[in-house]
Amino acid sequence: MKIQTKTTPAFTTFADAVVFFLHAEQKTSALGAAFRGLNAEEFAGKSGQLCVVHTQGRLAAPRALLAGLGPRKESTPPKLRRAVIAATRRLREIGVRRAAFDAGDAERAGIIAEAVVAAHYDFDDFKPSKAPPKTKLTGVTIHVSPGEARAAAAAVQRGRVLGETVNWTKSIANLPGNVMYPAELARRAVALSRESRGRLHCRVLDKRALERGGFGGILAVGSGSAREPRLIVLEYRGGPRSANAKPFALVGKAITFDSGGICIKPGDKMEEMKWDKCGGCAVLGILRAAALLRLPVNLIGIIAAAENMPGAASYRPGDIVTTRNGNTIEVINTDAEGRVILADALACACEHKPRAIVDFATLTGACVVALGHNIAGLMGNDATLHKRIQRASEATGEPVWELPLVDEFRDMVRSDAATVKNSAGRYGGTLTGAAFLQAFVEEGVPWAHLDIAGPAWASDAKPYQEKGATAFGVRLMIELLGRGM
Ligand code: BES
Ligand code: MN
Ligand code: ZN
Repeated sequence: MKIQTKTTPAFTTFADAVVFFLHAEQKTSALGAAFRGLNAEEFAGKSGQLCVVHTQGRLAAPRALLAGLGPRKESTPPKLRRAVIAATRRLREIGVRRAAFDAGDAERAGIIAEAVVAAHYDFDDFKPSKAPPKTKLTGVTIHVSPGEARAAAAAVQRGRVLGETVNWTKSIANLPGNVMYPAELARRAVALSRESRGRLHCRVLDKRALERGGFGGILAVGSGSAREPRLIVLEYRGGPRSANAKPFALVGKAITFDSGGICIKPGDKMEEMKWDKCGGCAVLGILRAAALLRLPVNLIGIIAAAENMPGAASYRPGDIVTTRNGNTIEVINTDAEGRVILADALACACEHKPRAIVDFATLTGACVVALGHNIAGLMGNDATLHKRIQRASEATGEPVWELPLVDEFRDMVRSDAATVKNSAGRYGGTLTGAAFLQAFVEEGVPWAHLDIAGPAWASDAKPYQEKGATAFGVRLMIELLGRGM
């Protein structure tokens, strides 16, 4: 897809369709004669509303698509993004190939570029090739006012990288467990580093290396599966080279399939547990985008990958395993496996003396009960880091909500026989999960935990989000890191 910015008015562009975004207060008549006949039932600028108009020679483009943004004072960049995705999907449905977007300023141009690219994601890897492929836009012009030309070109470039990275992340996260397993995920990370022309460095620890390194948590969780576990370490050095330029660490849970292990889950909806790797996939995506955008930061991405299966060699309830930092875990429930692999990954992150750690994990069903399907739980030990995450979250429209990680939850995960136990029952399940993780974060290291069990994937399609992986966290973290650490 070719994306250009232009400073000519969108009205005059010879595309198959031209897209205008309107607030509820804006009258279609302000757009000119072509829209004068529209009444409020047809188009009132409501959020999510779309209206196709045949321009009958009154505009250069034969069709116009009006997209509503809702009341002006409630309009935000994330709302524009959703409108662009819904609009682009409509254009694809009606067979448009060349489209023009009326953006106005550079910020909007960047959002439009990102969202147009993101609206082209389809998970059709396994559809027989006989099925007709959905139309894709081949040419996109984004129209901005003359003073915005330079800033818009840069914003569009950034938006394009973000959109492509969101799609790349989804394309890995949506793959099923038989295709995407720990070694395969590691292979993708290595491929990513190869394609980065030296900007990303990847190190993979296989089962033997994990044994030598004392990663008892990852090994325990992976032991029931024929697919051996991996620890993936991806490094990006875009910031200062000095020895004390501490990296920002990103840690991800990548359970390529979570059957629950010996404490096996019920069969209903178990297929959704192929998305239990979304935290790890988000970390890969963040490193990819950071490298392509040449962000001036040092990053280290640590992805713990395992498949949680029942088998003759499975770890079992009652087992006590020794982790990378010497802490021991009493296994109460083999289905609380995410925290067991993250224990090793967080300890490993601390060895890199990071300036901060953010982890992404589809950790608890309790978080979905508490916050629903769209909001991630935010817990941690550093108010400043939380503020930064909250600000980035508002900017990108990936919602987070802070939950109270108070000391009593650390007491709840204490074990009689080991340092910690991996389950403390149902109540406060998201917080005991976070309190468990905290035992593996060195004192004094700012750390935030995002429980993305709700927003990591969509069980049903919406106009602005197809069914499946959402790449939650990728745009949020790039927004945060782009503001300089
Ligand atoms: N991956 C699941 C959490 C999950 C469940 C995410 C449903 C999204 C939807 C995690 O590994 C898990 O099974 N957690 C258990 C923990 C419990 C055994 C302490 C849970 O939430 O039930
Ligand atoms: Mn589980
Ligand atoms: Zn899990």
